[in-house]
Amino acid sequence: MSVKKVVLTGDRPTGSLHLGHYVGSLQQRIVLQETHKQYVMIADIQALTDNYEHPEKLKGNVIQVMLDYLSIGLDPQKTTFFIQSMIPEIAELTVLYLNLVTVNRLRRNPTVKTEIEQKEFGDSIPAGFLMYPVSQAADITIVKGELVPVGSDQLPMIEQTNEIVRTFNRLYKKEVLTPAQAIISKVPRLPGIDGKTKMSKSLGNAIFLSDSADVVKQKVMKMYTDPFHLRVEDPGQVEGNTVFTYLDFFDTHPDQVAELKVQYEKGGLGDVVLKKRLIDVLNAFLDPIRSRRAELEKDIPHVMDILKRGTQETREVAANTMHEVRDAMHLIYF
Ligand code: TRP
Repeated sequence: MSVKKVVLTGDRPTGSLHLGHYVGSLQQRIVLQETHKQYVMIADIQALTDNYEHPEKLKGNVIQVMLDYLSIGLDPQKTTFFIQSMIPEIAELTVLYLNLVTVNRLRRNPTVKTEIEQKEFGDSIPAGFLMYPVSQAADITIVKGELVPVGSDQLPMIEQTNEIVRTFNRLYKKEVLTPAQAIISKVPRLPGIDGKTKMSKSLGNAIFLSDSADVVKQKVMKMYTDPFHLRVEDPGQVEGNTVFTYLDFFDTHPDQVAELKVQYEKGGLGDVVLKKRLIDVLNAFLDPIRSRRAELEKDIPHVMDILKRGTQETREVAANTMHEVRDAMHLIYF
């Protein structure tokens, strides 16, 4: 019998997920669940690291994320969903890891560094925020995750996880923890509708999996193209043109997109024509997702039951890992 490799991945529940998440890692999870033992975690504790004043928002967001997962085709028969805060072993493991990491190393973590600047924490960085990579290492290692499909901004997290894994195994002289490997999408990350490098809810430039056809239309019509392409007859630039970037990913007729690019560069192809095509392409992609979501929304208790069952399954695995960890550290007293 071949043993399936373990995949662990997750998202912060800040609301519905968007096309950037889809391109970055959701799409890969749909494929990975066929051949791997896949865990998908909703990182509610991590979502609190910069929003701890509003824990009451989480529940609604968790439901939205579960609806996203199930409506894009993650299958509860193949993927185990769980919620971070209901696995107390993750918190236990985090505390043990905190001694293996320095504050300076955390400050230098590139993702944390960028976020500290973006969020303008100044001198008031919450300790929970600074150490969230340690908690993320616990998320991954508690189920012995070997593969972690994530967006490229998460690479420093995997690196930090593996530093902890190596330190732990060396210090406690036992190969208890498994190193993790990131799986990064081949597609460069999807820009926001404003053409900025990253699609993100907080930047207000996202198209959500839960957006209606009308909302998608409005967002695409506002999309950043080539600012110098003023008249239809003018030659336009394809490179850096957000509409083409999206067509490259979502259009099911790449040959036609290639022709449109030639035409656009020559001149004679207007932005509106191009945007109309993208609206159709995106809605064709989102329509089946929307109808599955509408079905699932009729029975939220069922959706939450899927999360509950997955969490129970994960707790058993987590308890086993914790036992091995305690054993290696001689923390079993009676
Ligand atoms: N940090 C991830 C994000 O911001 C979410 C996350 C938390 C995660 N724990 C994880 C991703 C473990 C992969 C593995 O989206």
